[in-house]
Amino acid sequence: MSNAITRASGDGQARVLRRVQISSLATAVPSRVLTNSDLEKMVDTSDEWILKRTGIRERHIAGAGVATSDLAAEAARSAIGQARLTPSDIEFLVVGTITPDMCFPSTACLVQDKIGAGAAWGFDLGAACCGFTYALTTAVQMVATGAHEHALAIGADVMSRIIDYEDRTTCVIFGDGAGAVVVSPAEDPELGVIDFAHEVDGSGGQALWMPAGGSRLPASHETVDQRLHYVHQEGAAVFKFAVRKTAEISRRILERAGLRADDVDLFVSHQANRRIITAAADQLGLAEEKVVINIDRYGNTTGATIPLALADALADGRLKKGNLVLLASVGAGFTVGAVLLRWAY
Ligand code: UT7
Repeated sequence: MSNAITRASGDGQARVLRRVQISSLATAVPSRVLTNSDLEKMVDTSDEWILKRTGIRERHIAGAGVATSDLAAEAARSAIGQARLTPSDIEFLVVGTITPDMCFPSTACLVQDKIGAGAAWGFDLGAACCGFTYALTTAVQMVATGAHEHALAIGADVMSRIIDYEDRTTCVIFGDGAGAVVVSPAEDPELGVIDFAHEVDGSGGQALWMPAGGSRLPASHETVDQRLHYVHQEGAAVFKFAVRKTAEISRRILERAGLRADDVDLFVSHQANRRIITAAADQLGLAEEKVVINIDRYGNTTGATIPLALADALADGRLKKGNLVLLASVGAGFTVGAVLLRWAY
């Protein structure tokens, strides 16, 4: 096959797979904007603190009744159209989310029905802020192996539903949004996804978590009274881990491809904190103009940050066909991920 590539898969076993590309990208954010000055009226914080410590100016918040599958379906429909496909061409979809509409059915099932992707199967993937990189890798593998022709990778979260708007240490950070990409066999064997690298470190589980609502602490009056259905975070610990691991996994994936930081055209990291992104980019020796930062307008949308950043870079002409793009993310779990690709359109 013309676009076959041989790649190592971390276990020393070289495998022949098809090269796969991102064929389209679309995003969806709710229209309501929550600014730093709005938050000043809700908790003891200031625009100055939020901007200086996180880089965030505003975030989008879903209206009542809008759930993750609504934003995900909007992004998915648009991505399918941009790829000049119809929903029936999609054979697989995966939704990276930690804010599913409900425990079950999965958001993937709800999206499949909403967009009319009758031929698709799929599932949700819980990797928090690595939701998009993990979903992308999963969808890419489905196409690379030849199992499927066209797949959807979605990162979507309505974080505002699990944020405590009385906790200033978390409520200033998060926002809502969704992003979807269609992945298909590469048209040009020089372009498309080159490699991926992922890790988990479960020992960091309680640094960033939602303690209740699962099988360990099901919802009860007590869990609600104790505010255990909200995000709890040890900010400084997560910050340090995120900087170190973003740089480490980025270095590793570049080395494996025989590339250097200088070769990267665009570094699109998960947007959790402006200072995390710039510190990791500095450690990697990446020039400032290669680093995409749009956290100022969206905050941390968990599964959606990377597609939102890619979409902005495409819209302003910074992301072009042939560019070497490095995606990197660190999230609750801890989860860590990187995907290296040459942009295909
Ligand atoms: O997406 C992956 C998961 N999340 C992350 O990657 C987030 C990682 N962590 C962070 O981004 C940062 O740690 C935070 C933004 C959460 C916090 O920033 P920080 O610079 O690490 O602040 P801190 O937690 O060390 O707190 C410094 C001070 C504290 O006051 P004292 O104890 O020095 O008097 C906090 O109470 O800042 C205070 N503070 C605030 N002040 C005003 C914390 N949040 C706020 C706030 N407004 N919103």
